[in-house]
Amino acid sequence: MKILVIGSGGREHAMVWKLSQSPARPKIYAIPGNPGIGKLAETVQLKVDDIQGILEFALNEKIDLTLVGPELPLSLGICDQFRKNGLKIVGPTQRASRIESSKAYSKEIMFKYQIPTATAEIFTSAKKAREFILKTPKPLVIKADGLAAGKGVVIAESDEVAISTIESFMEKRSLGDAGSSVLIEEFLEGEEISFLVITDGKHVLPLAEAQDHKKIFDGDMGPNTGGMGAYSPVPLVTETQKAEILNQIMIPIVRAMELEGAPFTGFLFGGLILTRGGIKVLEFNARLGDPETQVILTRLQSDFVELLQKTADGQLDRFQLKWQDEASVCVVIASAGYPVSSGAKVPITGLETINAKEDHGLVFHAGTEFKNQSVLASGGRVLGVTACGKSIQEARKFAYEAISKIHFDGMQYRKDIGLKAVNR
Ligand code: AMP
Ligand code: GLY
Repeated sequence: MKILVIGSGGREHAMVWKLSQSPARPKIYAIPGNPGIGKLAETVQLKVDDIQGILEFALNEKIDLTLVGPELPLSLGICDQFRKNGLKIVGPTQRASRIESSKAYSKEIMFKYQIPTATAEIFTSAKKAREFILKTPKPLVIKADGLAAGKGVVIAESDEVAISTIESFMEKRSLGDAGSSVLIEEFLEGEEISFLVITDGKHVLPLAEAQDHKKIFDGDMGPNTGGMGAYSPVPLVTETQKAEILNQIMIPIVRAMELEGAPFTGFLFGGLILTRGGIKVLEFNARLGDPETQVILTRLQSDFVELLQKTADGQLDRFQLKWQDEASVCVVIASAGYPVSSGAKVPITGLETINAKEDHGLVFHAGTEFKNQSVLASGGRVLGVTACGKSIQEARKFAYEAISKIHFDGMQYRKDIGLKAVNR
């Protein structure tokens, strides 16, 4: 059996690692992969947006099943192209992936089907957006409609910031077409949680919940990043709340997509906030999260290959997800300057000293490259050190002990990943 994974981050390394544990013993390919993935899979140097090139590769190699990591190829219709050519793939159609690639579309569906979310107005005119800002109390949250790699959301405390964001997104087109429409949203406060499901369009199975740490510095300070670490399970959310999320948010959105003629299949990610006024949706993503995947898949006991096959075949009613009792913590190590700038490429030492069994730690690669026999940190989020333990506290201990063996110049990581769950 041949399985192809699309993407090159820590999320995709965790996917490939979990696939490599399957009793089905698949041959794994990754496009483009990274040096960590290269130890478990054959990597193929194509770009994730080269849909035609990836399709030709999959047809030539007779790939049995493909799993897509990032949003870009989904939004370009990779799943439609694969299915048209008789290839099995796990992920939503281009139409269904608009739940992530258009925040305006996503908001309209939530309003139409009464799925709880922040109130918002959608604007295509900068003039109207300005008028709305001036008459509405702050803070306000301004969101570019399209995909913006984490740069499309600004929390504006003042008229000045709100109006300059409108100018930047809509008039100067700082994010290209992604900012031609904007949402201006009510500001919500509360704990954030990532709640993911897998669906074949009809059946919906919840995954273990996780909490991401979006800010660069300890104590949730500094600018937003792609995610500096995650943990699972999340004791801040009760069993009753999880049932509510599944039954009042995740299942209803899957049903809504079906009624809209854009049935969703694959992994659906709810970015939620637990406010005093109830649980609300901040966003949906049409894929697994990064670094949520690293902690979710290290806790997954079931066979990942069978899960993906059953999803592709519309048979999720015949599958039961099993989870380890253990907790998992992933601490991301980023390069100097992240998330603002990317510094020089520097060698990483200590990677080979970490043993999954003795150290209870797995090192998932993200921003690394292999050059002259050594692994270099090439910028951004570099590694995701992930460990399981009897409790979050123990998993944290293992993860930070493993990190103490790794070094590269300028490395930075948060010391408080999962601490909220320990201190409560
Ligand atoms: P999004 O891409 O929509 O999930 O937004 C990115 C981040 O911005 C979220 O994880 C939140 O931390 C923050 N955010 C988004 N929408 C809101 C909101 N309505 N109120 C407060 N914070 C928000
Ligand atoms: N960790 C958030 C995301 O993957 O979008």
